[in-house]
Amino acid sequence: MKLLKRKLPELRSDRVCCRLLEPHEATKMVDFRKDNKDHLEKWEPRRPSEFFTEGFWQIHLRLALKDFRDGTSACFSMLSVDEEQVIGVCNYTNIVRGTFQSCHLGYALSHRFEGAGVMYEALSLTNAYMFKDLGLHRIMAGYLPHNDRSGKLLERLGFEKEGLARKYLKINGRWEDHVLTSLVNDDY
Ligand SMILES: CC(C)(COP(=O)(O)OP(=O)(O)OC[C@H]1O[C@@H](n2cnc3c(N)ncnc32)[C@H](O)[C@@H]1OP(=O)(O)O)[C@@H](O)C(=O)NCCC(=O)NCCS
Repeated sequence: MKLLKRKLPELRSDRVCCRLLEPHEATKMVDFRKDNKDHLEKWEPRRPSEFFTEGFWQIHLRLALKDFRDGTSACFSMLSVDEEQVIGVCNYTNIVRGTFQSCHLGYALSHRFEGAGVMYEALSLTNAYMFKDLGLHRIMAGYLPHNDRSGKLLERLGFEKEGLARKYLKINGRWEDHVLTSLVNDDY
């Protein structure tokens, strides 16, 4: 499904603004990534050095806008309410239509904002958008079995456990088992 005419989403609460970042805002993402390099290393794929540069993010953000317009992903940046800094990301990728109407979700929050309910707030907004505005039926998320924070967050959002996938994602250089969960839109 082409979404060429769809307005870019801007989802707000009192503490966060979720929207797609423009390429000219690449430095905000670089700052977030540099500041959280150590914090996110053990939960994410190994990142090449370019990942922490403005040039990389200018290209990546341009591609993310194209993918959104093509209907294949919705990669939200979480910004502070004044939109000066990136505090996290909620990435909905692999959007598949047809009989599936599903996608995968990945997310990360700055170490500076952990433990305050901000990610729960952001994902409540973005999940509702994916269901109500984009018409998806299922959002799938996997987490490392020892990632208690992530497991608790997903459970509170209503995601249900569906199983354990062996050596599912390559995290920090190693294939790791993941708990698979999903949130189903029962209205669609
Ligand atoms: C996973 C991650 C997003 C969870 O962040 P988080 O801040 O714990 O998530 P929430 O927004 O749900 O906040 C819940 C915490 O805020 C607390 N909290 C404080 N005020 C709150 C409020 N107003 N509303 C809700 N929770 C609140 C809760 O008690 C809870 O803290 P606790 O776990 O110490 O009890 C974050 O730890 C992270 O980015 N980790 C690294 C990357 C990662 O793991 N990504 C996911 C890969 S699967």
